Amino acid sequence: MKIMITGGAGFIGSNIADRLIDEGNTVIIVDDLSNGKKENINKKAVFYKKDIRDADLADIFIKEKPHIVIHNAAQLSVRISVEDPVYDAEVNVKGGLNVFNCSMKTGVKKIIFASSGGTVYGEQEKFPADESHSTNPISPYGVAKLASEKYLHYFYKTYGLEYIALRYANIYGPRQDPLGEAGVVAIFSSIILKGGSPVINGDGNQTRDYVYVKDVVEANMRAIESNFVGCVNISTSKETSVNELFAALKQVSGNNSIVENHGPAKAGEAFRSSLDYSLAKKVLGWQPKTSVKEGIELTFAWFKENTF
Ligand SMILES: NC(=O)c1ccc[n+]([C@@H]2O[C@H](COP(=O)([O-])OP(=O)(O)OC[C@H]3O[C@@H](n4cnc5c(N)ncnc54)[C@H](O)[C@@H]3O)[C@@H](O)[C@H]2O)c1
Repeated sequence: MKIMITGGAGFIGSNIADRLIDEGNTVIIVDDLSNGKKENINKKAVFYKKDIRDADLADIFIKEKPHIVIHNAAQLSVRISVEDPVYDAEVNVKGGLNVFNCSMKTGVKKIIFASSGGTVYGEQEKFPADESHSTNPISPYGVAKLASEKYLHYFYKTYGLEYIALRYANIYGPRQDPLGEAGVVAIFSSIILKGGSPVINGDGNQTRDYVYVKDVVEANMRAIESNFVGCVNISTSKETSVNELFAALKQVSGNNSIVENHGPAKAGEAFRSSLDYSLAKKVLGWQPKTSVKEGIELTFAWFKENTF
């Protein structure tokens, strides 16, 4: 099968590309390298250095004629989306819409979209939240992800372009950007390996639902095969606190001199988050396989080999 991955030089997209290529698929990567890295790009992939906002994006679709598009390219900072919501919408709404429109015009069968379960629901009223939870995002980033899901629904209803929006919880693993704002496992691993002690925001009891990237790759593989159309959480239904992550990383590092530092709590940060993956189990036959302990060991080992 011929599969286009936008953002395929990034953390999640490059892990998906590797697996698809290992299984004999042809992979086309479209990435402007604004956050992705050349070294992440699988040598067997066809690579286009291209901004998804560009008007001539259509030329790549016309030339390559992908069957499936996995849309990962995005501006991923919630903070930047708050500071500059117009820029966030340029990339995450208009850029995405350009991808969807090109897909519709060139006969793409299905789009798999990297949505964000951590932001589309807004303040969670239920833990874990399932897909029927109200969607009232409290950041422009979350609004853009939700708007993209609605555009996908429009293209499906009007033109029959199938889609699955995978509402990711917090994803972690090899190749995550340790200089980003959200990848706490990557950030802490990198600081610990440089001999430092990471700073935990607030009391560290805030929780998130952490999914290992290999499980996310598997969810994309299942989504390619599935007949389901709509939005589905990709999560573990479990909450892990920052203090628990810190303790696990300290143990894995074998370095007892690491100090537990706490800084001020991050303003506007939700205290708890976890998503119910029952629907993914039902419609994709997917469930997370990697425990947080195992995932942290694998991630730390990768960062040790790939010093930043
Ligand atoms: N990492 C997470 O925990 C998480 C959680 C929920 C959703 N997501 C979504 O998953 C997707 C992948 O995230 P990631 O963590 O791999 O991030 P990433 O930054 O590693 O990957 C995104 C890729 O998109 C590329 N890109 C950005 N703007 C572009 C543009 N205008 N044109 C072309 N390419 C562009 C970047 O260069 C990068 O390679 C994103 O859509 C993100 O919003 C991630």
